[in-house]
Order: sequence, then C-alpha cells, then structure tokens
Amino acid sequence: MPDHTVVVVGGGVAGIRAALAARAQGADVALVSKVHPLRSHSCTSQGGLNAALAPDDSWETHAQDTVAGGDFLGDQDAVETLAREAPDAVLELDRWGAPFNRDERGRLALRRLAGANRARACYADDLTGHVVLQVLHEQLLAARVPAYVEWVVTSLLMDDGACRGVVALELATGTLHAITARAVVLATGGFGRVYEPTGASLGLTGDGLALAYRAGAVLMDMEMVQYHPTALTGTGALLTEALLGEGALLVTGGGERVMAEAAPRLGERAPRDLLSRSIASRLKAGEAVLLDARPIGGARLGRSFGVTRHLVKAVAGLDLAKEPVPVEPVPHRTMGGVRVDLHGATGLPGLFAAGGCAATGVHGANRLGGNSLLEALVFGRRAGEAAARAAAAAPTGQGASSRLADEERALEALTARGGGPDAAAAIRQALTRTMREQVGLFREAAGLAEATRTIVGLQERHRGLGVTASGRRWNSALVSHLELGHLLEVARVVAAAALARQESRGVHARRDFPERDDTGWLRHTLASFTPDGPKLDAQPVVITRWPPGRRAY
Ligand code: FUM
Repeated sequence: MPDHTVVVVGGGVAGIRAALAARAQGADVALVSKVHPLRSHSCTSQGGLNAALAPDDSWETHAQDTVAGGDFLGDQDAVETLAREAPDAVLELDRWGAPFNRDERGRLALRRLAGANRARACYADDLTGHVVLQVLHEQLLAARVPAYVEWVVTSLLMDDGACRGVVALELATGTLHAITARAVVLATGGFGRVYEPTGASLGLTGDGLALAYRAGAVLMDMEMVQYHPTALTGTGALLTEALLGEGALLVTGGGERVMAEAAPRLGERAPRDLLSRSIASRLKAGEAVLLDARPIGGARLGRSFGVTRHLVKAVAGLDLAKEPVPVEPVPHRTMGGVRVDLHGATGLPGLFAAGGCAATGVHGANRLGGNSLLEALVFGRRAGEAAARAAAAAPTGQGASSRLADEERALEALTARGGGPDAAAAIRQALTRTMREQVGLFREAAGLAEATRTIVGLQERHRGLGVTASGRRWNSALVSHLELGHLLEVARVVAAAALARQESRGVHARRDFPERDDTGWLRHTLASFTPDGPKLDAQPVVITRWPPGRRAY
C-alpha cells in the first residue's frame, strides 16, 4: 500500500505548486492526477497572470480592482494576500525559465486584462497557462516528486473525522489502491462541466468538491458561476480575453459598440460578468455579436495570438486578422469551492484544498482575468506548506484496508449490475440542459426550484444505474459514472445556493431580484452535506479597507 506524508490530488498549477511547496518543507509528497499534469485545465488560461510590477502600479491597486471586480463579496484578507504575494509568485516562474514576453527594455511585458485599471498581466503570447504548467512540471520532475498519473480518486480515507489518504483507481490496470498519508491537498479544479457547452476542460467534474463535501467539508459561494464572454459561437472554443485587452472590439451586426453603455470608461476591458451579460442581452434581442480583432493589427495578431488565430481558422474557417467573428458567453470558471482559510485548511484535520476546487473567498462574486493562475500559485504554495506542517505532527490513519475492501465491493457491484434501461449519457444531458436553461447567466426563483427538483430526480436515476462495461482496465464508463455522481452532487448545491441568494451580485443575476443588497446579502453562502440535500448557512464577508461601493466601469 503506497504511503506518503502528503498526497496532492490534481496535477494543474495549484496541485503542482502545492506539491513543490510540501517538498521544499521536506515532506515525502506524491501527486495523484486523473489526467497527465500537462493536460490539466490550467493550460486553457491564456491571457496572463496579474502582479503589480509596473512602476505606476501597487499591490493596493491590484487588490482594489479585485475587490470591485468581485462585486465586494471577496474576503479582503485573502485579496490582500493574493495581491501582495503576486510579484514574488510571478518572478519565481521567471527565474524557473518561463518564457514570458518582454518589453523593449527587457522587462516583463504587461497587458491589461478585464477589470484592471492598469496593465498588470504578464504573459506568454496566448499560451500563458501552457507555459506556466510546463515550467512547473519541470520543477516537479527535478524535485523527484512521484506522480500517480491517470489514477482517479474515488474517496477520501477519513479516520475519526481526519483525512489520512485517498482511495484511487489506477486506470491502466483497473486496480483500486489505498494511498495513505498524514495530509491531503485537493487541487482538482472547478466544476464547469455541470454545463454544456462550457470552456471548462473535460476533467472539471467537481471531483474534489464532491469528495470533500461528502466527507464533511463546507462548500462556499457555489452559486457564483462565471461565463467567459467570448467563445466562438456554437463551439465552446474560448477566444482569450487578452484580445479585448489588446484592443479588439465587441460590435453588433449593425456595427454598434456592445459595451458603450454598460462600461463607458473601460469598454471591452470591463469585467467578465458585465461583458457576458451585455453580449447575452444583445443575442437575446436577436442581434449578432462579433469580436473584431482587426484593431490589434495583423503583425501583433500574428506574433502574439497565433494559437487563437489558428483555432478560429480551424474551427470556423475565419481569419481573425481579416474579419470579425461571432461570439457568445459560455460557462467557464467557478468561484465556489471547498471553504478554506488563507493556508488552504478546510477545517477537517488533514484536509487542505487550493485552486479551482477551493474557495478562499478571494474572487468574491466574479473573478478577474489574470487572477486565476495567480490564485493557483499563491494559495497552492500556501496549502502545500501548511499540509506539510500539519502532516509532521499528525498520526497515521487507521482502517485503510477495510475501507479499500468496501470500495472494491462497491465498484464490483456497479460493474456487475451492467447497463440498464437508463443511460448515463441521458442523465448527463438532462443535467447540463437544466443547468444551462435554469441555472444560467440569468436566473429566477421558479426556474431554480424546478432545477433542484430535476437534479434530485436525476440523482435518483443515477443511483439505480449500473456501468455498461464490465472490464476494469481503462473502464471509461466506470470513470464517467463516478464523475456524473460528482457533477450531480455539486449541481444540486449550485441550484440551492442560487435560489437562496435573493439579490443580484457579480455573476449571479436574478431577474426577480435585480439589485445588489448589501444589507441582506453581503455574506457568503455555505453548504453542508446532509442525506436530504444541502444544508445552507452564511458567513460574513471580511472587509479590511474597501467598504462596498458602486462598481463604475
Ligand atoms: O480568456 C482567457 O485567457 C481565460 C483565462 C482564464 O480564465 O484563466
């Protein structure tokens, strides 16, 4: 039975950064990931990483933009931590060899992303996430951190309320393993796949959130789901917001600027929530919305947006340098996750979380472009360090063997049952349709209540379902079954939290409660697992320096 001091689940930027930090503390750390780390969702983050590096910038301005961007739901202690630690996090990557773009004097080039009042995002053309992941992965190899790649975690090993490892399915052999540890860091990413179409990678099925929630951790702000404003219409393929940051325009078919009224000052550089709603409203009114990248200029487009240009050509047969392309918002990033403190602690001994599956409260009700990779670096490192410290003082867990045997019996039963009259694909389609139509960009009570009833029914159907393929090697039907269970669990919380929050704030737009309500709702939504569905609660927002005010873009 593999045994380590710390186990990190997830091979994206947050997971690798956490593993490196735990290793630097001297921990025997291992990484478990259901996809190869270089295929993690982090590589879709093209635009850049925010850090106040310019002479006219400061961590305070970065923090202030983040707080306003999050519509004042952000916990300001977390925001301050993010903004203060950003320059070191970025410069560390630079030292490790990340090929960031440079200006004419050889300094890190900076671009302006949505919601930022300064050019603050360092970047590598339109490949920033990819580059960051490559560099971190090199460090992981150099640090000789063992990685269990293409192993799917099926449950957390809980011992008397403390997390002491994981049970994981090795896909290549179909063998189930218990991996024991004194601390576990979840870094499995968000849950964007409860929607279709979405900009979220195939693997973002809410695994870490569902596992932690079932084990007793609290989920926070699950109603906050962000749409990326500019996906190529009908494809789910994202066109990086760096295009807007560098001068692309959003226009209607009739040539009218889409953001002229909603954001007269920042225009196309307004935060994603405003961009997405403005575009969606035009589309609903029957207008076409086009992204016109020609103002960026052919030379710059060729140099810095090669991947995006190729994508548009390959998928739509259009040339970004020559013509406007149709765009629409799609669900992409999620602000909610496992509630954690500034060190990634979930409140359950031995269990930590970081990155897309965690809620530090840093993004509030809407995350700014450029803060996602950054959050994964800053809070990934913190979680890894804290997990190593906690592990050093923690006892070994008990009962891993009997837990493994229980889990083995459960998987055997699933594959033995075989397929039935119902199909996993039909349940998943019904789920994503419900989420898209009733828990989407605009919401209201009746639709949210209906969505909850539908999801509860789908959970019931899922419980009765077997797995069509009986073999254990590379049983993708089995993995899809487990993922679908996670998606349903998480979606139920999203719908419940969205119904409960009777106001509009950030990405959460209620048609029946169109105003922000700081008297009643300046608070986080919390959800705890019960067999009858999520039990909701609330927690105040941490305000340090920036009292809630009007967002003016
Ligand atoms: O548009 C983008 O480059 C997306 C970035 C992100 O969500 O991290």
